[in-house]
Amino acid sequence: MKARVIGIFEDFKTESYEQLNNELNGMLEKFLAKDAKISHYKTIKTMLHSDDDYDVICIVGLGKVAEYDLNMHRKLIGAATKSLAYDATVLVDSFIPNDADMLDYAQAASEGVHLAQYQHVNYKKKAEDESPQIKIEFESQQEIGASVGLGELLARFTNKARELYSTPANNLTSADLANIVLEFAEKHGLATDILGKCQLEEAGMGGILAVNQGSINEPRLIVAKYMNSSSDEILGLIGKGVTFDTGGYSLKTAASMYGAHGDLGGAATMFGAFCAIVEAKLPVNVMLVIPSTDNVVSANALKPGDVIKMLNGLTVEVNNTDAEGRLILGDALTCATQMGATRMINAATLTGAVAQALGGKITGAFTNNQSFMGEFTRASEKAGEQVWELPIFKPEQEALKTSDVADLKNATAGPGALIAAAFLKEFVPDDIPWIHLDIAGTATMSDSELGPNGASGVLVRTLFSYVEDFLTNV
Ligand code: BES
Ligand code: MN
Ligand code: ZN
Repeated sequence: MKARVIGIFEDFKTESYEQLNNELNGMLEKFLAKDAKISHYKTIKTMLHSDDDYDVICIVGLGKVAEYDLNMHRKLIGAATKSLAYDATVLVDSFIPNDADMLDYAQAASEGVHLAQYQHVNYKKKAEDESPQIKIEFESQQEIGASVGLGELLARFTNKARELYSTPANNLTSADLANIVLEFAEKHGLATDILGKCQLEEAGMGGILAVNQGSINEPRLIVAKYMNSSSDEILGLIGKGVTFDTGGYSLKTAASMYGAHGDLGGAATMFGAFCAIVEAKLPVNVMLVIPSTDNVVSANALKPGDVIKMLNGLTVEVNNTDAEGRLILGDALTCATQMGATRMINAATLTGAVAQALGGKITGAFTNNQSFMGEFTRASEKAGEQVWELPIFKPEQEALKTSDVADLKNATAGPGALIAAAFLKEFVPDDIPWIHLDIAGTATMSDSELGPNGASGVLVRTLFSYVEDFLTNV
Protein backbone atom coordinates (compact mmCIF):
# COMPACT_ATOMS: atom_id res chain seq x y z
CA MET A 1 0.00 0.00 0.00
CA LYS A 2 1.06 3.53 -0.70
CA ALA A 3 -0.71 6.78 0.09
CA ARG A 4 -0.94 10.33 -1.06
CA VAL A 5 -1.59 12.81 1.74
CA ILE A 6 -3.56 15.87 0.69
CA GLY A 7 -4.71 18.89 2.70
CA ILE A 8 -8.12 20.45 2.07
CA PHE A 9 -9.19 23.87 3.25
CA GLU A 10 -12.80 24.53 4.14
CA ASP A 11 -13.03 27.74 2.12
CA PHE A 12 -10.26 27.61 -0.46
CA LYS A 13 -9.23 25.21 -3.18
CA THR A 14 -5.53 24.92 -3.94
CA GLU A 15 -4.25 24.23 -7.43
CA SER A 16 -2.80 21.05 -6.08
CA TYR A 17 -6.28 19.91 -5.02
CA GLU A 18 -7.78 20.73 -8.41
CA GLN A 19 -5.05 18.81 -10.14
CA LEU A 20 -5.50 15.66 -8.11
CA ASN A 21 -9.26 15.89 -8.47
CA ASN A 22 -8.94 16.12 -12.25
CA GLU A 23 -6.53 13.25 -12.30
CA LEU A 24 -9.12 11.21 -10.40
CA ASN A 25 -11.97 12.28 -12.71
CA GLY A 26 -13.73 14.29 -10.01
CA MET A 27 -13.77 11.45 -7.50
CA LEU A 28 -12.22 13.56 -4.75
CA GLU A 29 -14.91 16.19 -5.01
CA LYS A 30 -17.65 13.56 -4.98
CA PHE A 31 -16.17 11.93 -1.91
CA LEU A 32 -15.93 15.28 -0.14
CA ALA A 33 -19.48 16.24 -1.04
CA LYS A 34 -20.68 13.19 0.86
CA ASP A 35 -18.85 14.23 4.01
CA ALA A 36 -19.08 17.93 4.79
CA LYS A 37 -17.08 17.49 7.97
CA ILE A 38 -13.95 16.54 6.16
CA SER A 39 -12.81 20.05 5.48
CA HIS A 40 -12.88 20.85 9.18
CA TYR A 41 -9.72 21.22 11.16
CA LYS A 42 -8.25 17.91 12.30
CA THR A 43 -10.48 15.49 10.43
CA ILE A 44 -8.30 12.91 8.78
CA LYS A 45 -9.90 10.37 6.50
CA THR A 46 -8.60 7.89 4.05
CA MET A 47 -10.22 7.07 0.76
CA LEU A 48 -9.47 3.83 -0.95
CA HIS A 49 -8.33 4.28 -4.45
CA SER A 50 -6.33 2.29 -6.84
CA ASP A 51 -4.06 3.22 -9.67
CA ASP A 52 -0.60 2.10 -10.61
CA ASP A 53 1.25 4.24 -8.10
CA TYR A 54 -1.09 4.80 -5.17
CA ASP A 55 -3.73 2.80 -3.30
CA VAL A 56 -4.98 5.29 -0.77
CA ILE A 57 -5.62 8.98 -0.47
CA CYS A 58 -5.36 10.45 3.00
CA ILE A 59 -7.40 13.63 3.29
CA VAL A 60 -6.54 16.12 6.02
CA GLY A 61 -9.12 18.76 6.93
CA LEU A 62 -7.31 22.05 7.41
CA GLY A 63 -10.20 24.29 8.46
CA LYS A 64 -10.43 27.90 7.30
CA VAL A 65 -7.49 29.24 5.35
CA ALA A 66 -7.28 32.45 7.41
CA GLU A 67 -6.90 30.45 10.62
CA TYR A 68 -4.24 28.14 9.27
CA ASP A 69 -0.69 28.74 10.42
CA LEU A 70 2.71 27.12 10.57
CA ASN A 71 2.13 25.48 13.95
CA MET A 72 -1.20 23.99 13.01
CA HIS A 73 0.42 22.82 9.79
CA ARG A 74 3.26 21.03 11.57
CA LYS A 75 0.86 19.32 13.94
CA LEU A 76 -1.68 18.27 11.31
CA ILE A 77 0.98 16.76 9.06
CA GLY A 78 2.35 14.99 12.14
CA ALA A 79 -1.09 13.68 13.08
CA ALA A 80 -1.88 12.52 9.54
CA THR A 81 1.37 10.67 8.99
CA LYS A 82 1.66 9.29 12.54
CA SER A 83 -1.41 7.15 11.95
CA LEU A 84 -0.30 5.85 8.56
CA ALA A 85 0.87 2.26 8.40
CA TYR A 86 2.39 2.48 4.93
CA ASP A 87 4.61 4.60 2.72
CA ALA A 88 3.26 7.94 1.61
CA THR A 89 3.85 11.06 -0.41
CA VAL A 90 2.76 14.35 1.11
CA LEU A 91 1.44 16.80 -1.49
CA VAL A 92 2.96 19.81 0.22
CA ASP A 93 1.40 22.40 -2.12
CA SER A 94 -2.10 21.40 -1.07
CA PHE A 95 -1.29 22.52 2.49
CA ILE A 96 -0.04 25.98 1.61
CA PRO A 97 -2.27 29.02 2.08
CA ASN A 98 -2.06 31.54 -0.79
CA ASP A 99 0.53 33.97 0.47
CA ALA A 100 2.48 31.72 2.83
CA ASP A 101 6.21 31.21 2.72
CA MET A 102 6.52 27.94 0.86
CA LEU A 103 9.90 27.02 2.30
CA ASP A 104 8.83 27.54 5.93
CA TYR A 105 5.81 25.33 5.32
CA ALA A 106 7.90 22.64 3.63
CA GLN A 107 10.35 22.64 6.55
CA ALA A 108 7.54 22.44 9.11
CA ALA A 109 5.91 19.57 7.19
CA SER A 110 9.14 17.65 7.31
CA GLU A 111 9.55 18.38 11.02
CA GLY A 112 6.00 17.19 11.66
CA VAL A 113 6.56 13.90 9.87
CA HIS A 114 9.86 13.06 11.51
CA LEU A 115 8.85 14.13 15.01
CA ALA A 116 5.67 12.10 14.75
CA GLN A 117 7.53 8.99 13.57
CA TYR A 118 9.79 8.92 16.65
CA GLN A 119 9.51 5.92 18.94
CA HIS A 120 11.19 5.61 22.31
CA VAL A 121 13.91 3.02 22.68
CA ASN A 122 12.82 0.03 24.70
CA TYR A 123 14.66 -2.98 26.02
CA LYS A 124 11.93 -5.56 25.59
CA LYS A 125 12.83 -9.03 24.41
CA LYS A 126 10.26 -8.73 21.68
CA ALA A 127 9.71 -5.25 20.34
CA GLU A 128 6.10 -6.18 19.52
CA ASP A 129 4.72 -2.64 19.84
CA GLU A 130 6.90 -1.12 17.23
CA SER A 131 5.13 -0.11 14.09
CA PRO A 132 7.03 -0.77 10.90
CA GLN A 133 9.33 1.94 9.58
CA ILE A 134 7.54 3.71 6.78
CA LYS A 135 8.94 6.02 4.17
CA ILE A 136 7.42 9.43 3.65
CA GLU A 137 8.26 11.67 0.73
CA PHE A 138 7.34 15.23 -0.14
CA GLU A 139 6.08 16.44 -3.50
CA SER A 140 5.87 20.01 -4.70
CA GLN A 141 5.95 22.13 -7.84
CA GLN A 142 8.70 24.14 -6.20
CA GLU A 143 12.22 23.32 -5.16
CA ILE A 144 11.77 22.35 -1.50
CA GLY A 145 14.54 19.79 -1.08
CA ALA A 146 16.71 21.94 1.18
CA SER A 147 13.81 22.91 3.45
CA VAL A 148 12.64 19.32 3.75
CA GLY A 149 16.21 18.34 4.58
CA LEU A 150 16.48 21.00 7.28
CA GLY A 151 13.16 19.92 8.81
CA GLU A 152 14.39 16.35 8.90
CA LEU A 153 17.66 17.41 10.52
CA LEU A 154 15.88 19.40 13.24
CA ALA A 155 13.53 16.53 13.98
CA ARG A 156 16.43 14.08 14.06
CA PHE A 157 18.26 16.06 16.73
CA THR A 158 15.08 16.76 18.69
CA ASN A 159 14.65 13.00 18.69
CA LYS A 160 18.27 12.60 19.78
CA ALA A 161 17.50 14.83 22.78
CA ARG A 162 14.42 12.70 23.51
CA GLU A 163 16.54 9.58 23.40
CA LEU A 164 19.19 10.98 25.79
CA TYR A 165 16.52 12.09 28.23
CA SER A 166 14.88 8.67 28.18
CA THR A 167 18.00 6.58 28.66
CA PRO A 168 18.00 5.01 32.15
CA ALA A 169 20.73 6.14 34.54
CA ASN A 170 22.44 2.74 34.54
CA ASN A 171 23.03 3.17 30.81
CA LEU A 172 24.10 6.80 30.79
CA THR A 173 26.73 8.09 33.21
CA SER A 174 28.51 11.44 32.98
CA ALA A 175 31.43 9.68 31.29
CA ASP A 176 29.03 8.16 28.75
CA LEU A 177 27.52 11.56 28.06
CA ALA A 178 31.00 13.03 27.55
CA ASN A 179 31.80 10.25 25.08
CA ILE A 180 28.64 10.95 23.11
CA VAL A 181 29.58 14.62 22.78
CA LEU A 182 33.18 13.71 22.01
CA GLU A 183 32.18 11.34 19.26
CA PHE A 184 30.03 13.99 17.59
CA ALA A 185 32.76 16.62 17.95
CA GLU A 186 35.42 14.35 16.47
CA LYS A 187 33.21 13.49 13.53
CA HIS A 188 32.95 17.20 12.75
CA GLY A 189 36.50 18.19 13.66
CA LEU A 190 35.45 20.39 16.59
CA ALA A 191 37.66 21.35 19.53
CA THR A 192 36.64 19.84 22.87
CA ASP A 193 37.59 20.09 26.49
CA ILE A 194 36.46 17.27 28.77
CA LEU A 195 37.33 17.92 32.41
CA GLY A 196 37.32 14.98 34.84
CA LYS A 197 37.40 15.08 38.62
CA CYS A 198 41.11 16.01 38.96
CA GLN A 199 40.83 18.85 36.47
CA LEU A 200 37.69 20.16 38.14
CA GLU A 201 39.62 20.16 41.42
CA GLU A 202 42.52 22.02 39.83
CA ALA A 203 40.16 24.55 38.34
CA GLY A 204 38.25 25.01 41.59
CA MET A 205 34.77 24.07 40.42
CA GLY A 206 33.42 23.57 43.91
CA GLY A 207 29.79 23.40 42.81
CA ILE A 208 30.16 20.42 40.47
CA LEU A 209 32.53 18.65 42.87
CA ALA A 210 30.20 19.10 45.84
CA VAL A 211 27.23 17.56 44.04
CA ASN A 212 29.42 14.70 42.82
CA GLN A 213 31.02 14.08 46.22
CA GLY A 214 28.85 11.11 47.19
CA SER A 215 29.09 9.32 43.86
CA ILE A 216 31.17 6.46 42.55
CA ASN A 217 30.74 7.92 39.05
CA GLU A 218 33.19 10.68 38.18
CA PRO A 219 31.80 14.05 37.13
CA ARG A 220 32.50 15.71 33.82
CA LEU A 221 32.51 19.22 32.51
CA ILE A 222 31.95 18.78 28.80
CA VAL A 223 32.88 21.56 26.39
CA ALA A 224 32.67 21.54 22.59
CA LYS A 225 33.36 24.53 20.37
CA TYR A 226 31.98 25.27 16.94
CA MET A 227 33.67 28.36 15.52
CA ASN A 228 32.35 29.18 12.07
CA SER A 229 32.13 32.95 11.91
CA SER A 230 34.48 35.91 12.01
CA SER A 231 31.98 37.68 14.27
CA ASP A 232 33.09 38.43 17.85
CA GLU A 233 29.89 36.93 19.14
CA ILE A 234 30.22 33.54 20.86
CA LEU A 235 26.99 31.98 22.10
CA GLY A 236 27.34 29.70 25.13
CA LEU A 237 24.75 26.91 25.31
CA ILE A 238 24.80 25.47 28.80
CA GLY A 239 22.73 22.45 29.87
CA LYS A 240 22.19 20.79 33.24
CA GLY A 241 23.42 17.21 32.95
CA VAL A 242 22.39 15.49 36.18
CA THR A 243 22.27 11.82 35.19
CA PHE A 244 20.17 10.93 38.25
CA ASP A 245 18.79 13.15 41.01
CA THR A 246 18.01 11.36 44.28
CA GLY A 247 18.04 14.72 46.07
CA GLY A 248 21.13 13.69 48.03
CA TYR A 249 20.75 13.78 51.84
CA SER A 250 17.77 16.11 51.33
CA LEU A 251 16.32 12.95 49.87
CA LYS A 252 13.40 12.87 47.47
CA THR A 253 10.40 10.62 48.14
CA ALA A 254 10.19 7.34 46.22
CA ALA A 255 7.39 8.75 44.06
CA SER A 256 9.21 11.96 43.17
CA MET A 257 12.49 10.10 42.51
CA TYR A 258 10.95 7.99 39.76
CA GLY A 259 11.96 9.50 36.42
CA ALA A 260 14.94 11.38 37.90
CA HIS A 261 17.22 9.95 35.19
CA GLY A 262 15.68 12.70 33.04
CA ASP A 263 17.44 15.38 35.04
CA LEU A 264 19.85 15.80 32.14
CA GLY A 265 17.05 17.22 30.03
CA GLY A 266 18.81 20.59 29.75
CA ALA A 267 21.98 18.92 28.51
CA ALA A 268 19.97 16.83 26.05
CA THR A 269 18.28 19.92 24.61
CA MET A 270 21.50 21.90 24.34
CA PHE A 271 23.37 19.00 22.74
CA GLY A 272 20.53 18.51 20.25
CA ALA A 273 20.53 22.21 19.33
CA PHE A 274 24.32 22.29 19.09
CA CYS A 275 24.39 19.26 16.76
CA ALA A 276 21.73 20.81 14.53
CA ILE A 277 23.63 24.10 14.30
CA VAL A 278 26.84 22.25 13.42
CA GLU A 279 25.31 19.92 10.84
CA ALA A 280 23.41 22.78 9.21
CA LYS A 281 26.77 24.59 9.05
CA LEU A 282 25.31 27.86 10.34
CA PRO A 283 27.86 30.69 10.13
CA VAL A 284 28.08 31.33 13.89
CA ASN A 285 30.26 30.66 16.92
CA VAL A 286 28.70 28.40 19.52
CA MET A 287 30.17 26.80 22.62
CA LEU A 288 28.42 23.85 24.28
CA VAL A 289 29.02 23.53 28.05
CA ILE A 290 27.55 20.61 29.98
CA PRO A 291 28.25 20.12 33.68
CA SER A 292 27.42 16.53 34.49
CA THR A 293 27.21 14.30 37.57
CA ASP A 294 24.65 12.28 39.46
CA ASN A 295 23.29 13.45 42.82
CA VAL A 296 23.37 10.50 45.20
CA VAL A 297 23.96 9.63 48.84
CA SER A 298 26.87 7.85 50.50
CA ALA A 299 29.12 8.39 53.51
CA ASN A 300 31.04 10.90 51.40
CA ALA A 301 28.08 12.82 50.12
CA LEU A 302 27.44 16.53 50.54
CA LYS A 303 25.45 17.27 53.69
CA PRO A 304 22.95 20.00 54.46
CA GLY A 305 24.81 22.91 56.01
CA ASP A 306 28.08 22.24 54.20
CA VAL A 307 29.75 25.36 52.88
CA ILE A 308 31.37 25.17 49.46
CA LYS A 309 33.33 27.54 47.27
CA MET A 310 32.26 28.08 43.69
CA LEU A 311 34.52 28.71 40.69
CA ASN A 312 33.76 32.45 40.75
CA GLY A 313 34.87 32.66 44.39
CA LEU A 314 31.44 32.95 46.02
CA THR A 315 30.82 30.68 49.01
CA VAL A 316 27.51 28.82 49.29
CA GLU A 317 25.84 27.28 52.32
CA VAL A 318 24.12 24.22 50.92
CA ASN A 319 20.99 24.10 53.00
CA ASN A 320 19.26 21.77 50.58
CA THR A 321 21.25 19.14 48.67
CA ASP A 322 18.28 18.66 46.32
CA ALA A 323 18.88 22.14 44.93
CA GLU A 324 21.91 20.72 43.10
CA GLY A 325 21.22 21.95 39.56
CA ARG A 326 22.03 25.56 40.42
CA LEU A 327 25.34 24.48 41.97
CA ILE A 328 26.63 22.76 38.86
CA LEU A 329 25.18 25.43 36.57
CA GLY A 330 26.74 28.23 38.59
CA ASP A 331 30.18 26.83 37.87
CA ALA A 332 29.31 26.14 34.23
CA LEU A 333 28.13 29.72 33.70
CA THR A 334 31.37 31.04 35.20
CA CYS A 335 33.36 28.63 33.07
CA ALA A 336 31.55 29.64 29.85
CA THR A 337 32.24 33.30 30.64
CA GLN A 338 35.91 32.60 31.30
CA MET A 339 36.16 30.75 28.00
CA GLY A 340 34.87 33.77 26.12
CA ALA A 341 31.11 33.38 25.71
CA THR A 342 29.65 36.79 24.88
CA ARG A 343 26.06 35.71 25.43
CA MET A 344 24.61 32.67 27.16
CA ILE A 345 21.53 30.51 27.24
CA ASN A 346 21.16 27.76 29.81
CA ALA A 347 18.50 25.08 29.99
CA ALA A 348 17.72 22.94 33.01
CA THR A 349 15.10 20.73 34.58
CA LEU A 350 15.60 23.01 37.54
CA THR A 351 12.47 23.31 39.67
CA GLY A 352 9.19 21.49 40.24
CA ALA A 353 7.80 24.97 40.94
CA VAL A 354 7.98 26.07 37.31
CA ALA A 355 5.60 23.29 36.34
CA GLN A 356 3.24 24.45 39.09
CA ALA A 357 3.39 27.99 37.75
CA LEU A 358 3.12 27.36 34.00
CA GLY A 359 1.98 23.74 33.57
CA GLY A 360 3.60 21.19 31.34
CA LYS A 361 3.49 23.02 28.00
CA ILE A 362 5.13 26.38 28.69
CA THR A 363 8.80 26.81 29.50
CA GLY A 364 9.68 29.38 32.16
CA ALA A 365 12.29 31.87 30.94
CA PHE A 366 14.38 34.42 32.84
CA THR A 367 16.74 37.05 31.52
CA ASN A 368 18.99 40.01 32.26
CA ASN A 369 18.43 41.44 28.77
CA GLN A 370 15.00 42.23 27.31
CA SER A 371 15.97 42.50 23.66
CA PHE A 372 17.65 39.08 23.82
CA MET A 373 14.47 37.66 25.35
CA GLY A 374 12.38 39.37 22.68
CA GLU A 375 14.35 37.70 19.91
CA PHE A 376 14.28 34.34 21.63
CA THR A 377 10.52 34.57 22.08
CA ARG A 378 10.05 35.29 18.38
CA ALA A 379 12.12 32.24 17.54
CA SER A 380 10.02 30.12 19.89
CA GLU A 381 6.81 31.27 18.22
CA LYS A 382 8.12 30.19 14.84
CA ALA A 383 9.09 26.80 16.25
CA GLY A 384 5.72 26.40 17.96
CA GLU A 385 7.22 25.99 21.42
CA GLN A 386 5.84 28.29 24.09
CA VAL A 387 8.03 30.20 26.53
CA TRP A 388 6.91 32.76 29.10
CA GLU A 389 9.09 35.18 30.96
CA LEU A 390 9.18 35.11 34.75
CA PRO A 391 10.93 37.73 36.87
CA ILE A 392 14.17 37.98 38.78
CA PHE A 393 13.32 40.48 41.51
CA LYS A 394 15.13 41.92 44.52
CA PRO A 395 13.29 40.02 47.33
CA GLU A 396 14.36 36.63 45.96
CA GLN A 397 17.90 37.88 45.32
CA GLU A 398 18.15 39.25 48.84
CA ALA A 399 16.64 36.13 50.44
CA LEU A 400 19.56 34.14 49.05
CA LYS A 401 22.02 36.45 50.82
CA THR A 402 20.89 35.75 54.38
CA SER A 403 23.31 32.99 55.33
CA ASP A 404 25.26 33.52 58.57
CA VAL A 405 28.27 31.66 57.22
CA ALA A 406 28.44 32.11 53.44
CA ASP A 407 27.82 34.60 50.62
CA LEU A 408 24.78 32.68 49.45
CA LYS A 409 22.36 29.97 50.47
CA ASN A 410 21.39 27.59 47.66
CA ALA A 411 17.71 27.52 48.64
CA THR A 412 15.23 29.52 50.71
CA ALA A 413 11.49 29.58 51.29
CA GLY A 414 9.53 31.37 48.56
CA PRO A 415 8.67 30.95 44.87
CA GLY A 416 11.02 28.12 43.86
CA ALA A 417 11.54 28.84 40.16
CA LEU A 418 12.25 32.50 40.82
CA ILE A 419 14.69 31.77 43.62
CA ALA A 420 16.60 29.29 41.47
CA ALA A 421 16.85 31.88 38.69
CA ALA A 422 18.01 34.56 41.13
CA PHE A 423 20.73 32.17 42.32
CA LEU A 424 21.99 31.56 38.76
CA LYS A 425 22.10 35.29 38.10
CA GLU A 426 24.87 35.57 40.71
CA PHE A 427 27.11 33.73 38.25
CA VAL A 428 26.40 35.88 35.20
CA PRO A 429 28.24 39.18 34.64
CA ASP A 430 25.77 42.02 34.04
CA ASP A 431 27.21 42.83 30.62
CA ILE A 432 26.64 39.35 29.24
CA PRO A 433 23.14 38.88 27.81
CA TRP A 434 21.72 35.73 29.36
CA ILE A 435 18.57 33.62 29.28
CA HIS A 436 17.77 30.84 31.74
CA LEU A 437 15.20 28.29 30.61
CA ASP A 438 13.55 26.17 33.28
CA ILE A 439 12.26 23.14 31.37
CA ALA A 440 11.28 20.98 34.38
CA GLY A 441 7.66 21.08 33.13
CA THR A 442 8.25 20.88 29.39
CA ALA A 443 11.04 18.31 29.03
CA THR A 444 8.30 15.68 28.97
CA MET A 445 5.02 15.67 27.09
CA SER A 446 1.98 13.48 26.77
CA ASP A 447 1.28 11.60 23.57
CA SER A 448 0.56 14.14 20.83
CA GLU A 449 0.63 14.81 17.09
CA LEU A 450 4.38 15.33 17.31
CA GLY A 451 5.45 12.28 19.25
CA PRO A 452 4.73 9.69 21.90
CA ASN A 453 4.31 10.09 25.64
CA GLY A 454 7.63 10.86 27.34
CA ALA A 455 10.62 13.03 26.56
CA SER A 456 9.85 16.01 24.32
CA GLY A 457 13.25 17.29 23.19
CA VAL A 458 11.81 20.70 23.96
CA LEU A 459 13.46 23.85 22.54
CA VAL A 460 15.95 22.18 20.20
CA ARG A 461 14.09 23.75 17.28
CA THR A 462 13.59 27.09 19.05
CA LEU A 463 17.29 27.38 19.85
CA PHE A 464 18.20 26.56 16.28
CA SER A 465 15.71 29.07 14.95
CA TYR A 466 17.07 31.77 17.30
CA VAL A 467 20.62 31.16 16.09
CA GLU A 468 19.58 31.00 12.45
CA ASP A 469 17.45 34.15 12.50
CA PHE A 470 19.22 36.40 15.00
CA LEU A 471 22.82 35.33 15.32
CA THR A 472 23.88 34.71 11.73
CA ASN A 473 23.87 38.41 10.83
CA VAL A 474 25.60 40.00 13.82
N1 BES B 1 15.70 18.22 39.16
C1 BES B 1 14.92 18.79 40.21
C2 BES B 1 13.70 19.53 39.67
C3 BES B 1 12.67 18.67 39.02
C4 BES B 1 11.63 18.15 39.76
C5 BES B 1 12.70 18.40 37.67
C6 BES B 1 10.68 17.35 39.16
C7 BES B 1 11.76 17.61 37.06
C8 BES B 1 10.75 17.08 37.81
C9 BES B 1 15.77 19.76 41.00
O1 BES B 1 17.08 19.37 41.20
C10 BES B 1 15.15 19.85 42.36
O2 BES B 1 15.18 18.88 43.06
N2 BES B 1 14.58 21.01 42.68
C11 BES B 1 13.96 21.24 43.93
C12 BES B 1 14.48 22.54 44.47
C13 BES B 1 14.20 22.73 45.95
C14 BES B 1 14.94 21.71 46.76
C15 BES B 1 14.62 24.12 46.35
C16 BES B 1 12.46 21.29 43.71
O3 BES B 1 12.00 21.79 42.69
O4 BES B 1 11.74 20.81 44.58
MN1 MN C 1 17.35 18.14 42.88
ZN1 ZN D 1 17.86 18.09 39.77
